[in-house]
Amino acid sequence: MFGFGSKKITSVETYQKGDFISARKIAFAEVKKNPQNINSLLVIGNSFYIEGNYEKADEYYQKILRLDSENFEALVNHGEVLLRQKKYAEAEKFSQVLKDSVAGVFLKAKIDFEEEKYKEAQDGLLEVVKQNKSDFWAWNLLSQAAQKNGDVALALESAWQAIKQSGGEDSQHLNMAYALYEIASEIGAEKVLPYLKKWHEEYTENSIVKQSWNAFFPSETFIKSDINYVQKVFDNFADSFDETLDGLDYKVPQIIAEEIKKYSIDFLPKNPRVLDAGCGTGLCSKYLDSALKKYQLYGVDISTQMLEKAAQRGLYKKLEKDDMESYLIKQRNKFDLIIAADVLTYFGALENVFCACFKSLAERGIMVFSISKNEKDSISWQQHFSGRFVHGEKYVQKVLKQSGFQEAIFKPCVLRKEGEKDVLGWVVTAFKK
Ligand SMILES: C[S@@+](CC[C@H](N)C(=O)[O-])C[C@H]1O[C@@H](n2cnc3c(N)ncnc32)[C@H](O)[C@@H]1O
Repeated sequence: MFGFGSKKITSVETYQKGDFISARKIAFAEVKKNPQNINSLLVIGNSFYIEGNYEKADEYYQKILRLDSENFEALVNHGEVLLRQKKYAEAEKFSQVLKDSVAGVFLKAKIDFEEEKYKEAQDGLLEVVKQNKSDFWAWNLLSQAAQKNGDVALALESAWQAIKQSGGEDSQHLNMAYALYEIASEIGAEKVLPYLKKWHEEYTENSIVKQSWNAFFPSETFIKSDINYVQKVFDNFADSFDETLDGLDYKVPQIIAEEIKKYSIDFLPKNPRVLDAGCGTGLCSKYLDSALKKYQLYGVDISTQMLEKAAQRGLYKKLEKDDMESYLIKQRNKFDLIIAADVLTYFGALENVFCACFKSLAERGIMVFSISKNEKDSISWQQHFSGRFVHGEKYVQKVLKQSGFQEAIFKPCVLRKEGEKDVLGWVVTAFKK
């Protein structure tokens, strides 16, 4: 007998290819054979960490540390888990163990940042980037810490370094977009223009850069957020979306459900077909039971990661990945109710999207959506430095009418917080009749 034999693929190789689920399966088998296989234990821990299952991840880091109390990767990852679990006091105590390493200084700086000790965080991060210039996540956090400390020059330069050191990763472009928006809102657009121009010159084709550029230099042809941009933003945001929105006191899904409840008896059939347009992680689906006894819920969104979270709720009959405008055009007279919570803020001109909604509503159908208020009602819509769009009430009324809606009720409300400020807008119920 002879043969070439087949080389077994290890969990580490599989993990390095980015297939974390398969890597974990292989690692479990490896650990069954050899319970002291540290590399396999690390793969299991890290794959749980990536899923956000920090308790489970830590179980494996602890196993490694029982086998080898000085295992550097397990020590660092254990510290990261404490940080993610917001166990700051424990994490701080633990960071002492690592204090002589750059990873230890970085961990301490992250704890300081979370505890709002921005000066200490900035000092620690300056040390990290001095020792490891290519660590773009350190530059990223340094830009945020510097911004909190009012050091605009350092904030912008660090955001720029994060982009350069990452080789132009989208996560770092998003950080720059956010820094430009925050600094411009606080101290005026002129201060950020040199960086905005440099950024735009070097990364002209990136959709995040284009979106920010248009927010500062509006163009009449830029009437809707680029789909690639929306996708990038929300694919990056999906993991922390629900927690972040909770922290912003986001109330739109509840208000929409209250509005639906008011009109459901008169306008909706017993088992309405409902479309959650731009459904995101499915926050609206949580409240529909309070408004409707029975319903069939469909969802559309452009972000794969957001859709995955929505699917985990198990409340949607069907979820599809598409630009909602293109999707609606294909669904004539299909829905009894369309909801769109905090979605039209990614649209400037509303003519096309309202028209598509109208056509995909069945007779007597209703549409309930939120809209962010443009303080200057004389202006139909405007792009904010944040990249999002705000709208004037008169314009929204006009376009609803033009699209065929017979009546619309505007309920003024606080949509959410942004820093200390209330974001004002309306939840609008529009009737096809
Ligand atoms: C701020 S989130 C709101 C999500 C959800 N409606 C909620 O209330 O939690 C906006 C969502 O709209 C989606 N979105 C924005 N523009 C879109 C478009 N043109 N087509 C499909 N989805 C879009 C985004 O991907 C994102 O998931």
